[in-house]
Amino acid sequence: MVATTGALTGKTALVTGGSRGIGRAVALRLAAEGAWVAVHYGGDEGAARETVARIEEAGGRAFAVRARFGADGAVDRLFEELTAGLAGRGLDILVNNAGISSGSSVSQVTREEWDRLLAVNVTAPFFVIQRALPLLNDGGRIVNMGSTASRFAVSTQIGYTVTKAALESLAPSLANELGRRGITVNTVAPGAIRTDLTAAYTSVPEVVAGLEAITALGRIGEPEDVADVVGFLAGPQGRWITGRTIDVSGGTYLGPIV
Ligand SMILES: NC(=O)c1ccc[n+]([C@@H]2O[C@H](COP(=O)([O-])OP(=O)(O)OC[C@H]3O[C@@H](n4cnc5c(N)ncnc54)[C@H](OP(=O)(O)O)[C@@H]3O)[C@@H](O)[C@H]2O)c1
Repeated sequence: MVATTGALTGKTALVTGGSRGIGRAVALRLAAEGAWVAVHYGGDEGAARETVARIEEAGGRAFAVRARFGADGAVDRLFEELTAGLAGRGLDILVNNAGISSGSSVSQVTREEWDRLLAVNVTAPFFVIQRALPLLNDGGRIVNMGSTASRFAVSTQIGYTVTKAALESLAPSLANELGRRGITVNTVAPGAIRTDLTAAYTSVPEVVAGLEAITALGRIGEPEDVADVVGFLAGPQGRWITGRTIDVSGGTYLGPIV
């Protein structure tokens, strides 16, 4: 866990998909800065418990909230558990991180896969934001987890790309709508990060070598590389950035590396 500055002491946060991968690193990071974190998960209760335990062992505060996005009433259930856990306090930081991937080219995407990608990666975060608005304190933060997939072509992830581009499109309008309350809204767009989501290809040395070859900083990212940027945007130092997408890819696919 990173050294705490206490910059988020007294703040509350909801991290969707906070149980594993990038979301876990974000939850740990926000908690290390002093935030009280609601760790959302979809089904892996053990992973969520572990994230909460790691936060508590480090002296932080957290609780788990469960909602399987894509299922009927999931967002309602999330907010029932969240408001119970917050016990009357508002929300300062919302990180829409939960997401699923796809490895299908245009000819392979089924209607079912398309609907599921949209439900989890776009519809759920949209309505999580809508439901969070009355809870959000002035000066709050919304960070949506985009992807470099919306910046360059990944033909085997075309459905996923559409969802990340749609999610990214929310920030400017929301930033304008919420800016007078001091609330910022941004998208963080990671490149390839080592998590369960990418294990199928980050475990293949040839694929890793290919990704490293097109990345200025020459390696695959780690969840903490993303969490530090979310922590910055969520904290007081991020106050003057809103409506934007921050590329967090170590400079992936900037152009030829000679
Ligand atoms: N890893 C990368 O290279 C990369 C790159 C760019 C963007 N991203 C984005 O970063 C975010 C996190 O990715 P990750 O790599 O950390 O993924 P991950 O390791 O697979 O973790 C996904 C998280 O989302 C939750 N989740 C998945 N489906 C859900 C559903 N239907 N309902 C509720 N929760 C659900 C999972 O909870 P349960 O296990 O409990 O279901 C888990 O906490 C995603 O939005 C992804 O698109 C990742």
